Amino acid sequence: MQKKRVLSGVQPTGALHLGNWLGAIRNWVELQNEYETFVCVVDLHAITIPHNPQELKENTLKTAALYLACGMDPKKCSIFIQSHIPAHSELCWILNCITPLNWMERMIQFKEKAIKQGDNVSLGLLDYPVLMASDILLYDADLVPVGEDQKQHLELARDIAQQRINSRFSKKGSPILKVPKPLIIKEGAKIMSLCDGKNKMSKSDPNENSRIALLDSADMIRKKIKKARTDEHFGLEFNNPNRPESENLLGIYSMLSGKQRETVSEECSNIGWGKFKPMLTDAIISSLEPIQTKYNFLRKDPEYLNQILSDGADKATILSNLTLNKVRSAFGFLPKID
Ligand code: TYM
Repeated sequence: MQKKRVLSGVQPTGALHLGNWLGAIRNWVELQNEYETFVCVVDLHAITIPHNPQELKENTLKTAALYLACGMDPKKCSIFIQSHIPAHSELCWILNCITPLNWMERMIQFKEKAIKQGDNVSLGLLDYPVLMASDILLYDADLVPVGEDQKQHLELARDIAQQRINSRFSKKGSPILKVPKPLIIKEGAKIMSLCDGKNKMSKSDPNENSRIALLDSADMIRKKIKKARTDEHFGLEFNNPNRPESENLLGIYSMLSGKQRETVSEECSNIGWGKFKPMLTDAIISSLEPIQTKYNFLRKDPEYLNQILSDGADKATILSNLTLNKVRSAFGFLPKID
């Protein structure tokens, strides 16, 4: 039986952090054992806000190396760079022409990012979710493992596939595009800022102390956790809406220590923040250490990394062109005869 397919990606904007790992990449590592898995570094998305070309290049390589360092295995999955596959941009253009503008204006992430850009909002930022839909739909993905913040974008991809393509352009009984499902695993789906338990941990937060980057040194991790916001209560607990920092940090501790939520609840209900923080620090440092060691090793061998990206792009090209050609033909584009 044909394996179901998974596709996901991360933007190479700045340093990947605990949220990207716990909310997304860590789940991919499990999924690759069961599904045909494609993961890309979405560099075309990274230019929807002002960017530095040199940094983009470095961050693209860094992100790909981190996928591997986190446990993505090129024998089990295809890793590629989005801009290496022109079909993403082409399908995006086609989808742009059938997606209503008012669907785009409803996107929460667009509104949040647009506020930060002031007068400088690009058309690309508005179009970001259509490019993301193209990423997914090109590969006939069954499942898209992402964090909670991507739910609305996934709904848009489903609506475009179903309402704008399949129902308008498919012949009865043979849909052109597969309608993908989001896979949002509750635990880790929304890791919050270290400075404010009500705000998401984010690459774009100007305050570096708000996040733990996957490549932070042990010293940096110690300092950031020391500075992390706490509250005046004694003992850590879950499910108290007035204690978002306790919810977030205890949750991270549970995931990284590999202990059940009930176990850490019990373990930490009778200790103060002063005792808890070093335990959390140790759990973070020891979880990230193997990733960092592998990452440093991989970065010393750029040829190996390039080969993996080239193999990934080859596989991605074949699949994406199949879908793109189906869409082209359904839309009435005249095929080129050689
Ligand atoms: P990006 O780079 O912002 O985030 C990458 C992944 O990390 C998840 N994530 C989080 N999870 C939990 N807690 C957090 N604080 C946190 N911050 C980020 C995101 O949900 C995401 O899964 N638009 C996508 C990139 C993309 C994509 C795609 C994803 C482009 N095309 C196709 C899947 C399929 C994004 O948010 O990237």
